[in-house]
Amino acid sequence: MPGKTTKVDMEKIVSLCKRRGFIFPSSEIYGGLGSCWDYGQLGVELKRNVKDAWWRAVVQQRDDVVGIDASIMMHPQAWIASGHVEGFSDPLVECKVCHLRWRADELNGNSCPDCSGELTEPRLFNLMFKTFMGPVEDDASVVYLRPETAQGIFVNFDNVLTTSRKKLPFGIAQMGKSFRNEITTGNFIFRTREFEQMEIEYFVKQGSDEEWFNYWVKERFNWYLNLGIKRDNLRLREHGEEELAHYAKRCCDIDYFFPMGWAELEGIANRGDFDLIQHAKYSGKSLAYFDEGVGESYVPYVIEPSAGVDRSVLAFLIDAYDEELAEGEIRVVLRLHPQLAPIKVAILPLSRNEKLVPLAREVYSKLRSYFMTQYDDAQSIGRRYRRQDEIGTPFCVTIDFQSLEDNQVTIRERDSMSQIRLPIEEMVETLQDKLSGESFATQPLWTAKAVDALEE
Ligand code: GAP
Repeated sequence: MPGKTTKVDMEKIVSLCKRRGFIFPSSEIYGGLGSCWDYGQLGVELKRNVKDAWWRAVVQQRDDVVGIDASIMMHPQAWIASGHVEGFSDPLVECKVCHLRWRADELNGNSCPDCSGELTEPRLFNLMFKTFMGPVEDDASVVYLRPETAQGIFVNFDNVLTTSRKKLPFGIAQMGKSFRNEITTGNFIFRTREFEQMEIEYFVKQGSDEEWFNYWVKERFNWYLNLGIKRDNLRLREHGEEELAHYAKRCCDIDYFFPMGWAELEGIANRGDFDLIQHAKYSGKSLAYFDEGVGESYVPYVIEPSAGVDRSVLAFLIDAYDEELAEGEIRVVLRLHPQLAPIKVAILPLSRNEKLVPLAREVYSKLRSYFMTQYDDAQSIGRRYRRQDEIGTPFCVTIDFQSLEDNQVTIRERDSMSQIRLPIEEMVETLQDKLSGESFATQPLWTAKAVDALEE
């Protein structure tokens, strides 16, 4: 049974996100736009921290992966070569009575789930958003908004190879917006039409692809564990033959136990040499790799760990959400890993008393050059602690009247609510130490040697 201490439904998360400035419905003053969401002042920090953690782990802390940032609009031929123009579609059915549209492969029965009306025969609906480039709106000027960031990597394979002088195996990472005109969206930011992806294309020699596949599954699984997602809320799911995408030799999902059940957080695919061969064919440019070791050229195989930023943000929020009884009240705490918490340290003067303010401001200005901080002096100290707990702030620094005399402050820790008192000059170093994560509960990483050995 998945391991949540607090059972949380999606409404609670949506409501917390709205109330505290994590995520708002898009264009809300106009009634919102279906499946589009805006990240608010705290959400943008959380999302940026998730992306930074990924970038650090897969690019900055490795010798064998470099990053790029390709444009969202690409030459339309790229989408013909990749197979998206022909095959990136879902089967669409429409209710003849209420005209709602559904994905045929997601329906249980053969009548409309909303009004039980009769459905049309399925027809294929391409998920790519089209627009026109330049002032003329005709077939020749059609461009697509990318439905995945991956193709921006494949078309730059040779550019990166020749300029970075990397040898196989090596990878190219990219994160950014992708767009899919999904037939059904929902579950908050789980499935939307505009979202962000974090993708790696890791190029290897054919024959070593299975080994690298297993390596990346383990690496990516541990990334979520390292950032605090509970082990019991993660699982691996191997795709059956019938489910594999047209390009994939093998695919394994990392699923998270969302409130609506197990669902994909990230997919790791073995794409073989499909993409490079296709782009070489359609562009007329060789995308082979010359292996000096064996003195021959070949097209590398590709292992692709492909994650969703928004889905990760949602999983981190859900996993961190906790409620407990404290002093007769329900205390809501987001037990976010300190690396992900939007605000690291809150500075809370005991009151707005004019004697306290100068020292509190001084502490604030000292801390803000090291950490993402927030100064809060509105309402009682108890209310302010609760507010910081609810947004996941790991530490609060309190300045009281005693501080004016002994130049000491109190640091209160979110999870245990324990407090220590220490001199102001030791504050930065102590917080740096505590925020490095070691004082936060860690869990054993997954050490399975082969993917097969582990999960169902
Ligand atoms: N390049 C391979 C690829 O794009 P995918 O399984 O279609 O594979 C990868 O997408 C990840 O992108 C998913 O695991 C999910 O996290 C995220 N994703 C895909 N479609 C999404 C959508 N409509 N809304 C939010 N995230 C999405």
